[in-house]
Amino acid sequence: MNHLDPHRHVRGESQYLDDVPTQQGTLYAAVFESPLAHGVLKSLDFSAALAAPGVARIFTATDIPGHNQIGGIVADEPLLAEGHVHFRGQPVALVLARTEAQAHAALKLIKVEIDPLPIITDPRVAAAQGELIVPPRTFKIGDSADTWASCAHVFEGVAESGGQEHLYIETQGAYAFPTEMGGVRLISSTQGPTAVQRHTAHVLGLGMHQIEVDVTRLGGGFGGKEDQATPWAALAALGAFLTKKPVKLVLDRMADMRMTGKRHPYSSDFKIGLDANLKITAYEVTFFQNAGAAADLSPAVLERTLFHATNAYFIPNVTATAFSCRTNLPPNTAFRGFGGPQGMFVVESAIAKAAEELGVPTSEIQRRNLLREGDLFSYRQPAEMCHAEQAWDTAAQEFDLAGIRAEVEQFNQTNKLKKKGFAVMPICFGISFTKTPMNQTRALVHIYSDGSVGISTGAVEMGQGVNTKIAQVAARTLGISISRIKIETTNTTRVANTSPSAASATADLNGKATEMACAALRERLLRHACLEYTLNYEGLEIHDEQVLAAGVPAETDWEKLVSSAFWKRVALTENAHYATPGLHFDASVNQGHPFAYHVYGTALTSVTVDCLRGTYTVDALQIAHDFGQSFNPVIDRGQIEGGAVQGIGWMTMEEIAYNEEGRLLSNSLNSYKIPDIYAAPAVLDVHFLDTPGHPRAILRSKAVGEPPLMYGIGTYFALRDAVRAFQGHTALPFSAPMTPEKVLVSLYPTGVTSRDPSGAALLPRREEPVPS
Ligand code: MTE
Ligand code: HPA
Ligand code: MOS
Repeated sequence: MNHLDPHRHVRGESQYLDDVPTQQGTLYAAVFESPLAHGVLKSLDFSAALAAPGVARIFTATDIPGHNQIGGIVADEPLLAEGHVHFRGQPVALVLARTEAQAHAALKLIKVEIDPLPIITDPRVAAAQGELIVPPRTFKIGDSADTWASCAHVFEGVAESGGQEHLYIETQGAYAFPTEMGGVRLISSTQGPTAVQRHTAHVLGLGMHQIEVDVTRLGGGFGGKEDQATPWAALAALGAFLTKKPVKLVLDRMADMRMTGKRHPYSSDFKIGLDANLKITAYEVTFFQNAGAAADLSPAVLERTLFHATNAYFIPNVTATAFSCRTNLPPNTAFRGFGGPQGMFVVESAIAKAAEELGVPTSEIQRRNLLREGDLFSYRQPAEMCHAEQAWDTAAQEFDLAGIRAEVEQFNQTNKLKKKGFAVMPICFGISFTKTPMNQTRALVHIYSDGSVGISTGAVEMGQGVNTKIAQVAARTLGISISRIKIETTNTTRVANTSPSAASATADLNGKATEMACAALRERLLRHACLEYTLNYEGLEIHDEQVLAAGVPAETDWEKLVSSAFWKRVALTENAHYATPGLHFDASVNQGHPFAYHVYGTALTSVTVDCLRGTYTVDALQIAHDFGQSFNPVIDRGQIEGGAVQGIGWMTMEEIAYNEEGRLLSNSLNSYKIPDIYAAPAVLDVHFLDTPGHPRAILRSKAVGEPPLMYGIGTYFALRDAVRAFQGHTALPFSAPMTPEKVLVSLYPTGVTSRDPSGAALLPRREEPVPS
């Protein structure tokens, strides 16, 4: 079963927001943004802009009829700046013009006066000044403070990880239409149609029933449209509401990069204690999350960092504290992994530090401390159906861990200016929204009288293949061909009160709701068949569109059955609600059972570094992954490949740079690099682990969207391994991304001077003779 969309994608037939035919009278919007990162808004002068050709209206905060507030978790984010500006790129005014070009030209004619205030870009500086988004959180199990004295080895350090630009191919945008009842219909490129609906209603001072949000598909979201599609939709809606004309707002790439938040950079302190057998007995970690200028989803991201602070390891004594720090950068937001990767990077750094100091292979410490069945996470949920060791051992065997290690050593002994490096990266990722009430959704299934089927759920298709999976679930449950099934747009009037498509849980939640609705319809149809064709309900089934009674074809097939049910006035529509059972979490003590289950896996990464240039290649990424019982191996493998390469990008070449004035320097694809096919691993193997899946996973096929991103962390440590092989094991900071520039500096920790005409400084600084 292939993904249903790519055929249409490559032919240009798929409809994205920008493909929606424009309605007559449409006004095009452009957003005037703050040119300073912090200050008091003194004055705005629109006179020249309003006189410019084609300009219809310019709106500011004072024109908002409802509330100038779009904060989801904390009410700290105005839709349009009022009084103060808090980051460069913050929306200040909305310009509407007859063409997009005219709207953008008018932006340049707006004059603004801002009294500058001090700018903070560093989360540790923010924390020191008490600039916190929410009070700090601590997850604690055992007593780490009491354990240090009994540890054989204790190591401390600092780890830094950078931000990441989502770089969805389709930029943010929305198209708003005024409706006859004084409401607004919105087409939005959002992962969270209900969030867009709720915030737009709030901004316009309307009930949610006055706002309809429709989503066909996204050209990628990656978390960047979980919360941050809202401002653009609310702005377009504001324009449509006030002018009674359709308003379209689409960000160009550079505006999108400047104005939207990214993955949170973190700066963290760690302390790790091991016993004489290399068992980790204690771990303390403090995370400083760079939240940006408003909360957005930062508190939830922060929480997931804490949930994943110990990755796939069992550590009996853990104290993990996290600070969400307010800085003058665009509010950072959800990004594949949702804080999990940032937490895992630190524990992997701590283990690497211990291994480097002790002179043992990192993998030795990693393997000894993997989670086992029944081990408790710091939040007291036990690891159940735990495949951490199975994943590791399968990867080691399947891809010949010992052989790779020997090959790397051999290569490094015989090569001076090229070095290979190697790392193992186990992962463990919890599936469910960590906010328990978000784990609910609905499916609305219509069987039409000709036997075709239309399905609406809360799921948003963003390339991850959720529509294909839902169609498969329905086809299986109803016993019919997938060609009869249409997955409808995601629309707030058909399925209300949805959570965003996120947390990797979209297929599980919406698939389960679909399964329930289809099972109810199947039962109703089969009960009808009993009456109509005098059959026994026991042993009755629909298979390949044929009704079977105890395995024998009955005198009706799907089409006839549906038609006859319709004429006998049997309801052919069903609506099901699914809420993941068994979840609870008490945030006052940070304990409970927040996840339906965990996903496991292990990746082996091999790299080669060119020690003259600092450039490198990822030679192989070999993964053993716990899919459970995958019912779409093509899509699932695609998620692993895409996620892992995105993780490699985060850890290597993707470097977000702001200057001290809070201005984004990496503001285009000239200065911000994401991996392309040449940067992807030369070999990328995915081994499907033989695991039973989990009953809470849809058809026992486990969630797959986010977990593979964290395999990319292995590339950082493989590069570090190669660099250390060259520069003679001098201490290096733990600082991602490992850009070629950083690799080059790391290769020559004491620098290279032009006073080395022999080039001797380019050779490893070691006592032992260099092999020729
Ligand atoms: N895959 C594609 N092609 N495009 C995307 O935007 N988003 C990722 C992941 N895989 C994404 C993707 C993120 S951040 C999440 S949470 C999941 O897909 C969401 O979809 P799922 O819940 O259906 O896995
Ligand atoms: N993951 C993704 N998105 C979310 C979550 C989560 O755990 N919680 C709230 N939004
Ligand atoms: Mo994904 S970061 O939960 O959208």
